Formats: sequence, C-alpha cells, structure tokens
Amino acid sequence: MWKKWFGKKSASNEYDYHDIDLDKLPCHVAIIMDGNGRWAQNKGLPRTFGHRAGVETLREIVMTASEIGVKVLTAYAFSTENWRRPADEVSLLMSLLAEYLDNEIKELDDNNVQIKFIGKIDELAPALQSKIEKAQAQTACNTGLILNLAVNYGGRAELTRAVKIITEKVLHQELAVEDINETIIEENLYTTNLPAPDLLIRPSGDFRISNFLLWQVAYAEFWFTDINWPDFKPENFLQAIRDYQQRERRFGGLKNTTKR
Ligand code: IPE
Ligand code: IPE
Ligand code: MG
Repeated sequence: MWKKWFGKKSASNEYDYHDIDLDKLPCHVAIIMDGNGRWAQNKGLPRTFGHRAGVETLREIVMTASEIGVKVLTAYAFSTENWRRPADEVSLLMSLLAEYLDNEIKELDDNNVQIKFIGKIDELAPALQSKIEKAQAQTACNTGLILNLAVNYGGRAELTRAVKIITEKVLHQELAVEDINETIIEENLYTTNLPAPDLLIRPSGDFRISNFLLWQVAYAEFWFTDINWPDFKPENFLQAIRDYQQRERRFGGLKNTTKR
C-alpha cells in the first residue's frame, strides 16, 4: 500500500476527507500541471527546479486520487506546443518523464495503478518510447486508478488525427459518411474507452485550456486556483472535489439531469 501518511480521519500528516461523498466522486479528473516555472522563478531558482518539484506533486496527487477511489486521472505533462521552449528545457522535461517512469513504476504497479499515455508518443525519442511501452505493458492488467499521462498531447492534433482515421475508413468504404456520429469520433480519439473528464483542475492562476482535451471537456466542471503546481497539495485536490460535489451539472437539460 501507499505510505501510511494518508488517512480518512484528520490527524497530523493525514488528510481529512470524511466530508467527501465517496459515492459521488468525479470518475475522471483531468489536471493541467502548470506553474512550475513561476514557482521556481518566485524563489529565484532556475525553472528546472520547478519541474522537479512538480514531479513530486504528481506523486502525491496520484496517491491521493488512488486512495479515495478516483477511477481516472489525466495529467497534462507536455503539450504539442511545448516544443517551442528552449531545447535544454524540453530535454529536461523528457528526462524527468523517463526518471519518473524508472522510479515510480514499481510503486504504481504495487498499488494496482494502470498507466496509460495519450499524445503523439511516436514522435518521442525511441528510448523514452520503450519506457512508455514497458510501463503500459507492465500495468495493463491493473484494475485500480488509471493514470493517463498526456505527453506531446494537443487537443487539435488529436482531433486532426481522428479526422484522418475516419476519412481513411470512408475512403476504404469501411464507413459511410452518414454513419459518422459523436460515438465514431470518440472511438477515434486517444481517450477511447475512457469516460469524459468530470472535473478539470488548472493551478497557477491562468484561466485557459491550452489545447487540452478540447472535445472531452464539453461538460467538465472547471476548477481554478492561483497555487502553482509544485505547491499544490492533496488538500487542494480534495477541496476541488468538495467544490465539484457542490456543483449542479445539467448537461444542457434542467436540474437533476443525468448524462445520456
Ligand atoms: C508546467 O509548468 C510544465 C509544462 C508546461 C511542461 P510551466 O513550465 O508551464 O510553468 P509556468 O507556466 O511557466 O510557470
Ligand atoms: C499547459 O501549460 C501544458 C502543460 C501543463 C503540459 P503551458 O504553460 O504550456 O500553457 P500556456 O502556454 O500558458 O497556455
Ligand atoms: Mg505554463
């Protein structure tokens, strides 16, 4: 099991979630792990320190999500636009991902976490691709939390890919144009077989989506905080869930409407 610091009752070094309705958890929580650079700069440190500290936050939030019984956690780690950053920052981010997999895979596997990746994984360095394949294969039969890491991910790229796949099927007469519907589109996204996010968390004070899960967040509840990702704690995650549980989701209908 995870280290013993997490518990249902409030006590030192434990987090109190007795007031969270575990039967009404968001099934899928998506997080834009933003603000690493600002966290470091505020401390007069190089941005790389922020990225390292951000990995530690990811560890804690994965543990928390798994402990309380969230089914899917999608974490935005690197966007298709993040290649615009200086080469040394990109390379540090890639190394941190490789390190994360090397260091965490055993504990994640021991805790029944299934690791998945979304994004243009085939554009990453071959050595990183191998680690990703290994992590996915090793944890494929796990039945606990699905940790879905978005790496070289962009919502527009994902939709463009889906259009191409669907067009190919039409050209090969495997699919008729009149049969294209929302289900067909969903089946051709990276997130096929995953439920849509119920809750989207963006730390660090920006109020934008930055090309994340454009299709999937259609009815997600958004939760923003000024806290930079390295300072984001399990309490903040639990607070987002508490707030989510106070929201009324209508899906375009009226009060008490449930999803189709
Ligand atoms: C998030 O932190 C990490 C990635 C985008 C990979 P940032 O590096 O974007 O941090 P800020 O937004 O510049 O503070
Ligand atoms: C979004 O953050 C991408 C990730 C957290 C991986 P960015 O820092 O790239 O987003 P913008 O540029 O502020 O919109
Ligand atoms: Mg940022």
